[in-house]
Amino acid sequence: MYILGIDSTCDDSCAAIYDTERCVLLSDVVYTHTKAMQGYGGIVPELASREHVRFVPIAAQQALQKAGLTPAEIDWVAVTNRPGLVGSLIVGVAFAKSLAFGLKKPLAALDHVEAHLYSALLSSTPPPPAFPWICLVVSGGHTELFEVTGIGEHRWMGGTLDDAAGEAFDKVGKLLGFGYPAGPVIDRLVRESASAEDFTAYSFPRAKTSDLEFSFSGFKTAVLLAIQRAQPLDDAKRLGLAASAQEAILDALVTRIQAAQRRTGIQNVVVTGGVACNSRLRRKLAEAFFPEPRHCSDNAGMVASLAAHYLNAGKLRAETWDLTAMPRADWAGV
Ligand code: KG4
Ligand code: ZN
Repeated sequence: MYILGIDSTCDDSCAAIYDTERCVLLSDVVYTHTKAMQGYGGIVPELASREHVRFVPIAAQQALQKAGLTPAEIDWVAVTNRPGLVGSLIVGVAFAKSLAFGLKKPLAALDHVEAHLYSALLSSTPPPPAFPWICLVVSGGHTELFEVTGIGEHRWMGGTLDDAAGEAFDKVGKLLGFGYPAGPVIDRLVRESASAEDFTAYSFPRAKTSDLEFSFSGFKTAVLLAIQRAQPLDDAKRLGLAASAQEAILDALVTRIQAAQRRTGIQNVVVTGGVACNSRLRRKLAEAFFPEPRHCSDNAGMVASLAAHYLNAGKLRAETWDLTAMPRADWAGV
């Protein structure tokens, strides 16, 4: 069977095709809206919706073309309908519904964060560890810890009380004049230029939450104040600020993962989401499993493959035509 996955949760228009017999992705297309968002220093939700109207059909068409398939050969359409920017989700859901309706094929609706959770299953060299895992999904929109014991068997353990870690990276970068998204820029700058002193050049507070929660809003204010005090900025100060801020964010991630391991006794750790591309985080958590960067950031490959895992387990449910988009997930009880 061929599953077409669609994801339009935030500012990436994504489509992918998964072959359930050979268990491989045949195509995985991502149109990011970075260019449209330049000059705004972040995501403008209404602009993201308009970009999805342009790019979701193009991504789907290219995914089909790369897989060498016609629309009629698709057996299932799987779309993420929660959680995310609701204007963005609506575009993907409406497109997926119309396509499934026109093709007379079943439509599945998946959770975007859950798709991230299982994105590790797309990696083969090396393969992901066996269940159970502690999994951290850390992106521009989410910082969430789960205990994962099997496909569709996961328990939310804790998450951020305010901002996501990726958003904290982007805010620091915006204040330092790095453009959007700033996470990769900070990562590269620190990797290429920072010396040992840069990591402790500025001291930023670590949030006093419970050991499974995160909070970055106080940290963002502390960075803003430090930058104001450090005026006029030069490259050396920028480097120290970037390295010290990155260290504070990564420390929060590492300590919460360790707390989750202690509480559950689970050793295997999987880290995914855009921030999981961070090279220093990958070095700090040398024992953890990180999917390939292209499977960490938003993509529809993870959506199509999760649908395939559910299908193979006899658990993929066909939605009714009144399916809608939802800004929030149900796993955190929010
Ligand atoms: O998962 P993603 O592509 O989209 C969602 O937010 O769902 O994550 C994007 C986030 C952005 O905040 C970006 O700055 C951050 O991931 N990011 C990074 C790195 N690459 C992307 N943060 C730190 N280091 C990186 N190398
Ligand atoms: Zn995401």
